[in-house]
Order: sequence, then structure tokens, then C-alpha cells
Amino acid sequence: MTAASGAVRTVCVVGSGGREHALAEVLGRTVDVIITPGNPGMNGVTPSGHTLTSLDRPAEEIDADLFVIGPEVPLVNGLADRLRAQGKLVFGPGADGARIEGSKAFMKELLAEAGIPTARFGTFDEPEAAKAFLRTLPPPYVVKTDGLAAGKGVLVTDSLAEAEADIDAKLSGDSFGPAGERVVVEEGLTGPECSLLVICDGTRLVPLAPAQDFKRRDDNDEGPNTGGMGAYSPLPFVDDDLVARLVEESVAPLLGVLRARGIDYRGVLYAGLMLTPSGPKVLEFNVRFGDPETQVVLPRFEGDLAALLAEAAAGELVSTPRFVDDAAVCVVMAARGYPEAPEVGDPVEGLDEAGAMESVTVFHAGTRQVDGGPVVTSGGRVLGVTALGSSIAEARSRAYRAVEAIGWPGHLHRRDIAARVAESESVR
Ligand code: AMP
Ligand code: GLY
Repeated sequence: MTAASGAVRTVCVVGSGGREHALAEVLGRTVDVIITPGNPGMNGVTPSGHTLTSLDRPAEEIDADLFVIGPEVPLVNGLADRLRAQGKLVFGPGADGARIEGSKAFMKELLAEAGIPTARFGTFDEPEAAKAFLRTLPPPYVVKTDGLAAGKGVLVTDSLAEAEADIDAKLSGDSFGPAGERVVVEEGLTGPECSLLVICDGTRLVPLAPAQDFKRRDDNDEGPNTGGMGAYSPLPFVDDDLVARLVEESVAPLLGVLRARGIDYRGVLYAGLMLTPSGPKVLEFNVRFGDPETQVVLPRFEGDLAALLAEAAAGELVSTPRFVDDAAVCVVMAARGYPEAPEVGDPVEGLDEAGAMESVTVFHAGTRQVDGGPVVTSGGRVLGVTALGSSIAEARSRAYRAVEAIGWPGHLHRRDIAARVAESESVR
């Protein structure tokens, strides 16, 4: 423990999703937590007697010893800079570092500069040039918005015609507005994916346990890309040696390039990696915890999360994160119409019953409650139903049992989260 981490009694978490709920629960083991704006799930007293309080007020007006900023949008908009200018201790990069996520073209430029393996790519604002480059690549074709699109701005397709139409729709501003007026076209990669969250204090970095996320909306990885429909941790195919290699080859060089540019990056670097036949490659970097990866990584965290994040925020990272052997599986329950046009306002049944089940936590994401009335849906991803178990199979069956207890009209969820890995576990 350092001077900075020892002084933390109250932490303010900025955000209102499932990721922030998981952060609040795990921080709440050792400190009181205020979440702004929070949601109905983030209120109460933790088993260790600390309070969780949702409070819809600007972070700049909240009194706390440490600020943890959840989503990318406030980071890109400079909230960490504004809080630091008030003398606050902040976990999260300033606008200079957050640009990595705010512009995929900028991220790709830094990856090239740092020599980090990634898909071949080109950046375009003219459709004809983008299509000409696309035609030089073999399928699958990948077209990404340059700007922020909540995980939905990526098209991966075997159809050249679909990829070309997507370039037109993005560059014209029709499909994603200004975020799509520049696109990154890149080589399609194959292999299992791994999300690695790495805590950075500007100079030093330590990884958290790896997780895998399910990006497509429907079973068998079909349907549109989403923010993430479920996750599990640990990954049987990513051991500690591979994590160390990924940090050394793919994350540390980025922190080095940021430092060389005078960017003091204190927060989490989220590397989205694909383990391709020719070695691990970076698909993307995000400047925040993953959602729903956080909902499976943090419940496995052992120790004092507030101290770890305070150390990083103070530039004094000394702790080594440890994780329980138990596995965690999270199944996201989404509203009908997600991701294009989610229907909201439906009362959610069964929350208490599911939340009382063994080793289950129901993280709230898109929920709302007015004047003590029923909890109703208020966003696309509504809940992240997470369970721990001694194996992935056990965690998975607990999570799905809890999902079965919850409902509202037209809710949707994938039925195959962590299914393949649970099956392979049973034949080992
Ligand atoms: P991103 O937001 O860049 O991580 O992309 C979202 C998802 O699209 C990733 O998790 C992958 O499943 C897929 N994807 C992105 N880039 C590629 C690529 N170059 N090749 C194959 N799939 C990709
Ligand atoms: N689960 C993907 C993300 O957080 O970007």
C-alpha cells in the first residue's frame, strides 16, 4: 500500500452500465462508493458494510478521494483532465490518451509506430479509394468507423458488395453520422479472441485476468456486432506465460510510444487481441474497462481494488493483482430491437429471485426506477447476469438458471455464451 492508496475512503465511479456496477461492487468491498449517474442496481450496503450510492450529479461536484471513469465518451471529452485540474486523484486517461479510442486511425498510427502486430489497414475519407484498397484484400472484409460507435461501427463480412455498400453508408454520414466520415478498412483475421485489461500508472503496467467477449448478437456468432452479449474468464487457452507475452509485445510498446509523446497514461488499456495462426495481433485498443468483460474479471479479483486503482492514479503502482481459481460467466440480457432500436420501458420481473441464487450477481446496465416503482428497461443491454463456479460449466449453468428466472416482454439473450469452452472442459 502506498500513501495515495492508504488515504482512499470514498471512490466516485462515473457511469451507469454493467461495467460500472461491477466496479462499484468490487470497490465496495473496501470503500464507500458513489456512482454518478448510476442506476437502480447500484444502491445499498455491501457485505463488508460499505455503501453504494447512485447520485445523478456532475463528477466535478462530488467529493471523493479517487475518481474512476467508466465509459469512453467522458474520457474522450476530457473529464479526467477537468478533475485533475481540481486536484483530484483520477483513474482514467486525459483526452490526449483517450484519443486512442476516439480515433481508430490514430490508434493504428500508434500501433505502427510501436511495432505492435495488427491487421494490415488503410484509412480513407473517399469511397472510391477505400473500395480500391478493399479489393486488394482477401475476404473476410472489415470496415470500421474511425470515431466512437459504442462497439457497433465494425462490419466483418465475406460479401464484397456488402462491404462496399457499408463504406458508402459510413462515409456519407448516413449510418453513423460524423463518427463514420472516415473509415478504417482492414485485413480480416481469424482465431480465438482475448480481451486483456492492463492497469497502467504512466510508466508501469500490470495485467488483470484475461476474458473473452461475444460481440455478435445472435447464437453461433451471427447477427450484428454489439457492445458485447456475454463473457467468461479465465480462458483455458491463455495461460500466465501467454499473458506476459501479450503485455510485453502488444501493450508495453504502446505505453512507451504514449510516454514518448508526453502522454502520462494512468488508467486501463484494454487490448482486444486475436490469436491468429501467425501469432497474436491487436484488433483494437480501448481506454477503459471492457463491458461485459469487467463483469467476469472483477468478481474473480482478490484483494483491494480501490488500493490498486489509487496506486495507478498516483503513478505509484506496486500491487500485483491476484484472482481466484473460480470461473465466471456473464450472460447479457438485452431489450427487443437491440442494437438497432431497443424498446424500453418494460417492467423487469424476477430480479430478487435471480439475485438470491448461489454465486449469482445481477449487474444492472440499462435499468431505471421512478419513485420506488418497478425497475424498468431503459437501454439496449439491460442486465449482465454473472455467476461464479468451480468450472466454466458450473458458472455457466448457474448464470443461465438465473437468466431463466428473469423476464420482460421480448427480452433477448444468447444461449451459447461460453458453451464451446464448457464442453471442451468436460472432455479434458
Ligand atoms: P473492434 O471494435 O475493432 O474490436 O471490432 C469488433 C469486433 O469485430 C472484434 O471483436 C472482432 O470480433 C471483429 N473484428 C474486428 N477487426 C477484425 C479483423 N481485422 N478481422 C476479423 N474480425 C475483426
Ligand atoms: N466488450 C467490448 C468492449 O468493451 O469494447
